[in-house]
Amino acid sequence: MSQRVVITEVGPRDGLQNEQRIVPLADKVDLVNQLAQIGFQEIEASAFVSPKWIPQLADAKELFSSITRQPSVQYSALVPNQQGLERAIAAKVDKIAVFTAASETFCQQNINTSIAGSIERFAPVIEAAGHAEIPVRGYVSCAVRCPYDGPTHPDQVRRVISALMDLGPIEIDLGDTIGAASPEDMEPLLSAVDGLCPRDRIVMHLHDTQGRAIEVARRCLELGVRRFDAAIAGLGGCPYAPGSPGNVATEAIAELCEEVGFEHGLDLVALEQTSCWVQDRMIKGRQS
Ligand code: HMG
Ligand code: MG
Repeated sequence: MSQRVVITEVGPRDGLQNEQRIVPLADKVDLVNQLAQIGFQEIEASAFVSPKWIPQLADAKELFSSITRQPSVQYSALVPNQQGLERAIAAKVDKIAVFTAASETFCQQNINTSIAGSIERFAPVIEAAGHAEIPVRGYVSCAVRCPYDGPTHPDQVRRVISALMDLGPIEIDLGDTIGAASPEDMEPLLSAVDGLCPRDRIVMHLHDTQGRAIEVARRCLELGVRRFDAAIAGLGGCPYAPGSPGNVATEAIAELCEEVGFEHGLDLVALEQTSCWVQDRMIKGRQS
């Protein structure tokens, strides 16, 4: 089993989509450029979603044309439909992420369709991404609990992953959207996915609402998970999931890796510097 952990930085997307105020484009560009110096293989930089739904990321096109790309980094973005894919291709994104859920109400609230409707919507998107040689991630939100429908049965997560994987090669990302998971939830969840996707290829996307994300991540590592999403300084959330503030902090996941002796490939000094900058510029700035 590999002793290397891959951390995808999702702060510029999941973090900034949840800010009440719209962060200026120049600060977003600065953030992504700083993150690119830290050692991430992938930075989820923005989302090509409807600007009416997420005005905070309406400048995705401008962001992609303004950043200084590093060849070692994949700059990815969320795409909810074909219109999003066309915008993403025009912006030359390196990788896209479609996103559905294991819970019907959340799916409806978040992307205005049922789970089955989302799979139908993604089919041509994933096919076209394949033709364009753009890799695809597939998020399954509410993998443990939904803010509207309550606990999610692991079998339901399996059904949604299976439907997604039928559409083509796809990286599966399990979202604990409202940070409700406990370490005990991970074994049944991962067992339900066994046979569909190797554990070391699954990505865990943890929110830290209850302050338990690191305990959960530790359990995931014990169970063979090697990929995590995280947001610098713990930025993050989902505006359509009440009670989802804060992705697990990148610094905390890196610290966990250090503690258990796993490589993470990040420059901790640069990470700390950018984290201070984010806290100063974006988190303290919330009051202004
Ligand atoms: P809809 O209103 O049903 O869409 O929304 P529509 O097709 O009827 O279009 C309505 C309008 O939006 C039209 O404009 C379209 O052109 C426009 P109008 O004619 O009214 O001027 N539109 C678009 N514009 C730009 N880019 C697009 C696009 N699509 C339509 N791609 C839709 C359906 C999916 C578009 C909408 O619900 C949406 O954008 N939802 C995104 C919500 C979102 O981004 N949520 C947060 C991300 S998910 C998350 O945070 C969870 C995650 O972190 C994992 C976890 O934590 O679990 C990933
Ligand atoms: Mg999220």
